[in-house]
Amino acid sequence: MPVAPIVLPDLVDDDLRLRPPRESDVPAIFRLCSDPDVQRFTRVPSPYTEDDARSFLSLHAARIEDGTGVHLLAADTATDEVLGAIGGDIDHRDYSAEVGYWVGAEARGRGIATRGTRLLVRFFLEELDVRYVMLHAAVANPASNAVARRLRFTHEGTSRDAMLLGPTGDVSGPRGDANLWGLRPGELT
Ligand SMILES: CC(C)(COP(=O)(O)OP(=O)(O)OC[C@H]1O[C@@H](n2cnc3c(N)ncnc32)[C@H](O)[C@@H]1OP(=O)(O)O)[C@@H](O)C(=O)NCCC(=O)NCCS
Repeated sequence: MPVAPIVLPDLVDDDLRLRPPRESDVPAIFRLCSDPDVQRFTRVPSPYTEDDARSFLSLHAARIEDGTGVHLLAADTATDEVLGAIGGDIDHRDYSAEVGYWVGAEARGRGIATRGTRLLVRFFLEELDVRYVMLHAAVANPASNAVARRLRFTHEGTSRDAMLLGPTGDVSGPRGDANLWGLRPGELT
């Protein structure tokens, strides 16, 4: 199915802007993705390197170009400081998307993940023909589940032992249940 490149609007909410990553962001992405909670609850590589940060730049460019996803940084509108990342992949076969996020430790608790995910999901629903958005959060990750709840995703089930809870690359690492959250058009708050 041929899909057009994605044209990004300016995604801004007050002090928060979602924008493409660039080479000068590599040190910040490297630092923030080395955070223990990001390592534990996301699938970023472990240990995280600056080359991994460059791969994030390539991922963003490739997905935008082939129309299958949007992987942006959350940045401070005034200073352009990198605060976190919000991204999602789109499956055009069933018009669905899966979103995810991380926020640097110093910027947590300011609504960055909630507001950033709202901006991205609204863009998916309103501009990219997405009809269902899913989000997976470890049961052991209350902050991430709070983000889903706040945006009024519906808890649709719990996948048993679905997530590696710990750094990637360790097949015998601890595992945990994951909440599956889903959202349809008209439900986002
Ligand atoms: C999950 C994460 C992205 C949240 O980012 P954030 O910008 O701080 O999120 P927000 O400020 O938008 O919202 C956080 C919510 O979690 C709640 N929260 C935070 N810690 C909590 C805890 N220990 N127990 C219960 N709720 C908690 C906050 O109260 C807030 O909810 P509220 O707005 O209803 O009060 C951030 O903690 C993070 O990056 N963690 C590590 C990586 C990660 O877990 N990514 C998600 C993988 S699914």
